[in-house]
Amino acid sequence: MLEKLKAYALKGAGIAVIVLLLLQALPFLQPDNPPVVNEPVWDRPETRALAKRACFDCHSNETVWPWYAKVAPMSWLVVYDVRQGRAEFNFSDWHAGDMSGRKADEEIRSGRMPLPRYLLLHPEARLTDGEKAELRAGLLATMQVEATVVTGENLAEAGASLLTSRCSVCHSADRAKRERRSRGQWEETVTRMMANGAQLSGEEKMVLIDYLAQKYGQ
Ligand code: HEC
Ligand code: HEC
Repeated sequence: MLEKLKAYALKGAGIAVIVLLLLQALPFLQPDNPPVVNEPVWDRPETRALAKRACFDCHSNETVWPWYAKVAPMSWLVVYDVRQGRAEFNFSDWHAGDMSGRKADEEIRSGRMPLPRYLLLHPEARLTDGEKAELRAGLLATMQVEATVVTGENLAEAGASLLTSRCSVCHSADRAKRERRSRGQWEETVTRMMANGAQLSGEEKMVLIDYLAQKYGQ
């Protein structure tokens, strides 16, 4: 009798192992990190550092996948959260206005974000009250900068303000104002300056190029 039970148990365990192995081969909800396309223009590097610690695992393409994110069926829960988070807004594929600073403020203050179940396994993402306050203020400031551009119906104003704030970090903005260039040439220049380190979101880049082409065109 005991022998028979043992045999059943062994068979059951064998089947369980085979099923687990088969689950790993299923082609859905696999962990991935698509390329980083565009980040918001952070108000300060500290804001980005806090967001990276507490939010990037689910709201960016720089997810640090834990080992259990590679083992089905555990992985499905983790990957599902990340997919949902990225769909909500993605700090690595950012379009101005994707997330409201006020909403983020609310989510952090209420303790809904980062997801509490995530914090159980990621103590390093836990923020002190001081850090939470800093991140909330930082996200509000970051989104405010975006908002002035998105809602800036007045291209001249938005463009002039970008030229002053972003193009005078390394040299005087006069360096651009002296030039007369076609739109294509300005696009080339601004792209080159971004490679040099100029901070512009994709949206802001377009606004600035339009402005330069209009005001300092050929
Ligand atoms: C473990 C994954 C995870 C982490 C870490 C995480 N989020 Fe989320 N976030 C989600 C998911 C999933 C959703 C969409 C479903 C939901 O609202 O629960 C979401 C939604 C949101 C929303 C939209 C809420 C709404 O109702 O419109 C905001 C804002 C947000 N997150 C901010 C943050 C911020 C800020 C951080 C860092 C402090 C953060 N999240 C960290 C997974 C995460
Ligand atoms: C992070 C530093 C930095 C920022 C910010 C920056 N630049 Fe420059 N800029 C440089 C450097 C370095 C050079 C010289 C090397 C070169 O041309 O790439 C330069 C040169 C230039 C020149 C002369 C070269 C040419 O193409 O004729 C112009 C015009 C110019 N920048 C425009 C801009 C504009 C417009 C912006 C705002 C989008 C900007 N810069 C922001 C670093 C910067």
